[in-house]
Amino acid sequence: MKIKKAVIPVAGLGTRFLPASKAIPKEMLTIVDRPTIQYIVEEIVASGIEEIILVTSEGKSAIENHFDYNFELETILKNKNKHELCEEVCNISNLIDIVSVRQKKPLGLGHAILTTRNVVGDNPFVVLLGDDLVQSDVPCCQQMLDLFDEFQQPVVAIQQVADNQTHQYGIIEGEKIRDRVYEVKRMVEKPAPGTVDSNLAIIGRYILMPEIFDLLANTTPGHGGEIQLTDALQALSKRRPMYAYEFEGTRFDAGDKIGYLKAIIAFALRHPVLADEFRKHLKEVAAGI
Ligand code: UTP
Repeated sequence: MKIKKAVIPVAGLGTRFLPASKAIPKEMLTIVDRPTIQYIVEEIVASGIEEIILVTSEGKSAIENHFDYNFELETILKNKNKHELCEEVCNISNLIDIVSVRQKKPLGLGHAILTTRNVVGDNPFVVLLGDDLVQSDVPCCQQMLDLFDEFQQPVVAIQQVADNQTHQYGIIEGEKIRDRVYEVKRMVEKPAPGTVDSNLAIIGRYILMPEIFDLLANTTPGHGGEIQLTDALQALSKRRPMYAYEFEGTRFDAGDKIGYLKAIIAFALRHPVLADEFRKHLKEVAAGI
């Protein structure tokens, strides 16, 4: 079965990024020369997905506008003979079909996924969080789709984190079945320190089966009073095999101030035009520290 749809939830409040995120969605903050969310959309497009479902909320219309046509801007750029820039702006709108659904209250990531039920329909789908960036040679989403092709079962992306950070993540316990791949036995959202025997943290990439919707509908508020995707995933893992995949690449939590700064440096160092000059500058800065 081929996966055609990707869900990007962007309806969170973004409190960790205040005051920057007061009037601008954190997903619209710039990493070098494009907003964070554009990297996510480009990863999805590069992985062969055909449609994106954005879960939005009040104040997030800048994200929808970014991927829409802007005739006025395009006309002005054409009239000024800025054809290359005009093409670049147009290409963003041509990347992929995007539809939005609105999460009326920020009741949690699980609830955000549940709001896409009618649009996703009865097929497996992929979820990418709008502020979780992965820099890799093969797009992280593609790596996960390759694993799904093999197992035809849900997959969560994981990375190892320091033991003193496990309380910030959903943590899986599982049995390693081969390099980078675990069969999930248990999942816990933001466990209290010392209560889990694993440092395998779920990051913002998931492949889900449509039966997750019934499970989410029956999930009561968990950690932080929110409907947690991890709780529904734990229930799903009791029904069928579920796999955790240690992806190849580096992940940045761009919804967090320090993660955002690290992402800017990493992506700038890979930028086709800016990298050389930026590297030189960083060396000068490092020499002065
Ligand atoms: P986060 O844990 O990053 O929460 O959500 P947040 O509200 O965006 O940011 P902070 O923690 O207050 O700074 C993980 C993902 O789930 C989405 C967010 O947009 C983000 O992509 N989310 C979260 C929703 O779509 N709706 C919600 O009710 C909660």
